[in-house]
Amino acid sequence: IKNIAVLTSGGDAPGMNAAIRAVVRSCAFYEINCIGVFRGLQGLIEGDFKVLGPRDVKYIVSKGGTILKSARSKEFITPEGRAKAYENLKKHEIDGLIIIGGDGSFTGGLIFSKEFDIPVIGIPGTIDNDIVGTSHTIGFDTALNTAIDAIDKIRDTATSHKRLFFVEVMGRDAGHIALNTGIGAGAEEILIPEENIGLPKLLEKLKRSKASGKSSCIVVVSEGGKIGKNVFELSEYVEENLPEYDVRVSVLGHMQRGGAPSCFDRVLASRLGVKAVELLMLGKSQLMVGLINDQVDTTPLEKAIKGETSVDEELIRISDILSI
Ligand code: F6P
Repeated sequence: IKNIAVLTSGGDAPGMNAAIRAVVRSCAFYEINCIGVFRGLQGLIEGDFKVLGPRDVKYIVSKGGTILKSARSKEFITPEGRAKAYENLKKHEIDGLIIIGGDGSFTGGLIFSKEFDIPVIGIPGTIDNDIVGTSHTIGFDTALNTAIDAIDKIRDTATSHKRLFFVEVMGRDAGHIALNTGIGAGAEEILIPEENIGLPKLLEKLKRSKASGKSSCIVVVSEGGKIGKNVFELSEYVEENLPEYDVRVSVLGHMQRGGAPSCFDRVLASRLGVKAVELLMLGKSQLMVGLINDQVDTTPLEKAIKGETSVDEELIRISDILSI
């Protein structure tokens, strides 16, 4: 293998830069040219390429975001778009592609790999942790720490004013961020897409919480929650039905995607980046690298994309016990 291209695609996640650095430096170590592609799969179509050497990625291990920029490309969904991308790869004699992103990016990469026989390896980078084949996606740990820091601060106001706060955290289809930050911040209730407790039960639990002598209440809500109301509607609903509560809403939003990656995410990104290059050197393709039982391992992209992720039931049980 002579030329490897690397790109970041989909939502940015802290640690993506550490993964780019690992890919670039592994390529240099093994004397392979590394080409950075800007703006994800869209950059492949537009030929937005830059050769990257080991010094081009200095100091980025500690930086959030992605130096290669990211995008969600609609054009790459079309066969014409992918054909243009292939022309660019051919022109630069690229014989392997590493995609750092989530399942949308992997789906595009897999179709492309099958269509043009281009070796593709995926590195899971998303704060949502919603990919099968890895216990942790790059960015998840940092997002948890960012969100928990924010919820701890909200708790100060909640206790000072004896308030109930609905705190919305990210996670489009998955409750991993909500469940983990909820437990970590001692939330009274956690609402996740994987488990719809229903409005009557929510009211009952909040009532019980108040009666038990608690002076504040935090309900962490995953943005993809399936309870049928968004956080603002939930707030109104609870105020109407439980007038004893003074309710506020806080939506944490994109702050959860930014900031310096945690040490865990930097190390994870470094391990997965090195492995991705080594897999291409071995002639492997259509695999995702991930962490399974604390070891770097691989999963077919096909499986990673189609797999149903689920939250740890044990965490739900723990949260129920501890919120008494
Ligand atoms: O997939 C990562 C994520 O941050 C989700 O948690 C969130 O729903 C989505 O991206 C937001 O996307 P955008 O930045 O395009 O609004």
